Amino acid sequence: LKKVPLFDKLSESQLEPISRIARRRSLSAGSILFQEKDPGNVFYVVLGGSIKLFTRSAGGDEKVLSVVGAGDSFGELALLDGLPRSASARALETSLLLEIASDDFMRLLESHFDITKGILAELSRRLRQTNEHVSDLTFLDDRTRVLKNLINLANQHGKRDGVFINIHLALNYDELSQMAGVSKQILSEVLRELEAKGVLTFGINRYTLNLTKLRG
Ligand code: CMP
Repeated sequence: LKKVPLFDKLSESQLEPISRIARRRSLSAGSILFQEKDPGNVFYVVLGGSIKLFTRSAGGDEKVLSVVGAGDSFGELALLDGLPRSASARALETSLLLEIASDDFMRLLESHFDITKGILAELSRRLRQTNEHVSDLTFLDDRTRVLKNLINLANQHGKRDGVFINIHLALNYDELSQMAGVSKQILSEVLRELEAKGVLTFGINRYTLNLTKLRG
């Protein structure tokens, strides 16, 4: 628990009751944890793996809002405003979660101001990120949006190896193009262009950025 940023300011004696109320849950790759519009009464912390949070249009197209990994939390909105889940959640790989029931979550917010501040900071971060995404959709060209999305994924999920950053995520071209807000056709054109410039190499579930080439 100490490794989870939301709880890292708490002492061992403060963490002990949390480990008693939290339950571990493992999810197999591809399984759905909940669907958008479901009622929600559980808060989740990711201990391992990665979870895709996404919405669907009336026509069935998906929009990936975020991919969360170890140390991240999600599922707080339905608990805080009492409305249904604002997005669906699917495991991209085998994942381990910590579940905290709504009543226990509320008691934690009441008794630990550091946790409340952590949740507020996370909500603020997401609002900033969403504002940036809206302005990117308005002002950036397609190519820059694809590159920026890769850089965001590298910052959040990448592992540095010398001048390379490796992103291992089970995100297909459909999902990457939705995240960047471009068509699949444009996405594959831009990926090939970046590959030709030596900025990017990619394979199944793997994207590697070359920092030296990226700076150029
Ligand atoms: P909740 O609405 O309970 O269930 C879906 C969860 O997805 C939501 O809580 C948030 O935790 C998370 N979520 C919704 N929108 C975003 C977003 N734009 N960025 C990151 N996470 C989000």
